[in-house]
Amino acid sequence: MKISDCKLINLPRIQDKRGNLTFIESKNHIPFEIKRVYYLYDVPGGESRGGHAHKQLQQFIIAASGGFDVIVDDGLKKKRFALNRSYYGLYIPSMIWRELDNFSSGSVCLVLASELYDEKDYLRDYKEFKRIFKANK
Ligand code: TYD
Repeated sequence: MKISDCKLINLPRIQDKRGNLTFIESKNHIPFEIKRVYYLYDVPGGESRGGHAHKQLQQFIIAASGGFDVIVDDGLKKKRFALNRSYYGLYIPSMIWRELDNFSSGSVCLVLASELYDEKDYLRDYKEFKRIFKANK
């Protein structure tokens, strides 16, 4: 997949003086069926997460609180997205290397995933990721 397939998606936003509400429905707002939800929290300042790609998995990443950056890399180009609002998120298709950094204090990174956890789906070696990218060019 290409960098241009990584997209910021705006979510429905029900604004209310009692507090705002956002919801996400599989297939309606993001292009896959949600099978798993996980979140990163208590990330110490200066730390980075990610540092891998997935063979099949698609993800949608939201800054549920605070903010952080997501750097996506398709093997050719890189792009940095700043996520800092709860009413939009970043769609990442399969075969995109990602890193997350610049976590603000107290931030929560909510991730919706198209598959259950499977370590075999991970590419954790950047050289292997590039080799597969070149082989499929
Ligand atoms: P990892 O995906 O490498 O974290 P990140 O990309 O956010 O930096 O996962 C870190 C560890 O947590 C790793 O040992 C696998 C485990 N893990 C699960 O057991 N289930 C899950 O759903 C996820 C996302 C990770």
